[in-house]
Amino acid sequence: MVSFLSVVLVVLILAVVFKIFIKLSVKRNGSYVCLIGKTAIITGGNSGLGYITAMDFAQRGARVIIACRNKDKAEEAVQKIIVATNNKNIVYKLLDCASLESVRNFAKDINENEPRLDILVNNAGISTGMGLTPDGIQTILQTNHISGFLLTHLLIDKLKKSAPSRIVMVSSPTSRFANLNLSNLKEFNTEALAKRFYALYYNSKLCNIAFAIEMAKRLEGSGVTINATHPGVAATEIVKDAKPWLKFGFNTFTSLFLYTAEEGAQTQIYASVANEVAHINGGFFGNCSRMDVYQTAKDPQFLRKVWEKSEELAKLKEEEKIPLLL
Ligand SMILES: *[C@@H]1O[C@H](CO)[C@@H](O)[C@H](O)[C@H]1NC(C)=O
Ligand SMILES: *[C@@H]1O[C@H](CO)[C@@H](O)[C@H](O)[C@H]1NC(C)=O
Ligand SMILES: *[C@@H]1O[C@H](CO)[C@@H](O)[C@H](O)[C@H]1NC(C)=O
Ligand SMILES: *[C@@H]1O[C@H](CO)[C@@H](O)[C@H](O)[C@H]1NC(C)=O
Repeated sequence: MVSFLSVVLVVLILAVVFKIFIKLSVKRNGSYVCLIGKTAIITGGNSGLGYITAMDFAQRGARVIIACRNKDKAEEAVQKIIVATNNKNIVYKLLDCASLESVRNFAKDINENEPRLDILVNNAGISTGMGLTPDGIQTILQTNHISGFLLTHLLIDKLKKSAPSRIVMVSSPTSRFANLNLSNLKEFNTEALAKRFYALYYNSKLCNIAFAIEMAKRLEGSGVTINATHPGVAATEIVKDAKPWLKFGFNTFTSLFLYTAEEGAQTQIYASVANEVAHINGGFFGNCSRMDVYQTAKDPQFLRKVWEKSEELAKLKEEEKIPLLL
C-alpha cells in the first residue's frame, strides 16, 4: 500500500515537473501578423491542433475554411470560432481525406468559388486504421499523405495567383522512427512495413517532410513556399479512432506529461504566418525553430521516388503534375 502510494506520488511530482518544463520551454508563435483579406484552409480544422490553428487565423481576421469530414463537428467548430473571435467569415467544407474523389470535389469547389487562397495547412491525420480505402491505398498513408499531396497539386494555381502564399505540412516528431527508405519503397503501399508498432503512421509522417522538401524545389521562384512542421507530442484527438485503452492511455499520458493542443499548434501557426520565415522554403520546423531533417529525407533519390510513387497513387493526370524545372 505504501509503495503504491509512493509510486503515485512520484508520478504526480514527475508530471508537475514535466509540465513546468514544458510551460517554460515551449516557444510561442509570437507573431502579430494580420490576415485580413487573406483566405486560409485548414484540413482537420474542427479539432485538436487544427482547431487551435483555425481559431488563431480567425483572430487575425482571415477568411477561414475548415475542411473536415464530419458535418456536425464542423458546424460546432465554426460556431465556436465565430463566437470567440467575432469573425463571421468562417466556413466549413466537407472533405474526406480517405477518398481521392472527395479531395477532388473539395478542390473543385475552392477553385470555382474562392477568389484567393493564401495559406493551406495540411493538418488532418489519423494514427490508426489498417486496410485499404476504396481507392486501394493504405488508409493511414492516404489520409495523412496522399490526400494532402493531391489537394496541394489541385490548389497550386490558386496559391500561385495569391502569392506570396504558404503551404504547411503538419508532420510529427515520431517521423524519425519511420522505416521507409529507398530499398523498401516498393512496399510503400503495403502492410509489409507495418510490422513495427505504428510504422505506417511514422512512414506517412516522413512522407509529409519528403513531400515538403521536394515540392519546395518545384515551387522555386513561384512565390509559394512549403514547409513541414512538427507539434511535439501533443494531447490531441489523433488517437480518436484507436482502441479505448490506447486512447485513454495516450490522452492521459500526453495531458499529464506533454503538450496541450494549444502548445502543440504554435509551430504550425508560426510557419503559416510569421514574417521572419517568409523566405524559407522546404524547411522543417519544431518548437517554432528551424530543425535539421533526418538523413533519409535528405537523400534526393529518396525524395524523388516518394514523389513518383505518390503521383501514381494519387492518380494525378499528366497536366496536373508539377515538374522539376532544373
Ligand atoms: C524551445 O525554444 C526555446 C527558445 O529558443 C528554448 O529555450 C527551449 O529550450 C526550446 N524547447 C524545447 C523543448 O526544445
Ligand atoms: C500566437 O502569437 C500571438 C502573438 O504573441 C498571440 O496573440 C496568439 O495568441 C498566439 N497564438 C496561439 C494559438 O497561442
Ligand atoms: C531500409 O529499411 C529496412 C527496414 O527497416 C532495413 O532493413 C534496411 O537496412 C534499410 N535500408 C537502407 C538502405 O537504409
Ligand atoms: C519554408 O521552406 C523554405 C525552403 O523551401 C524556406 O525558404 C522558407 O523560409 C520556409 N517558410 C516558412 C514559412 O517556414
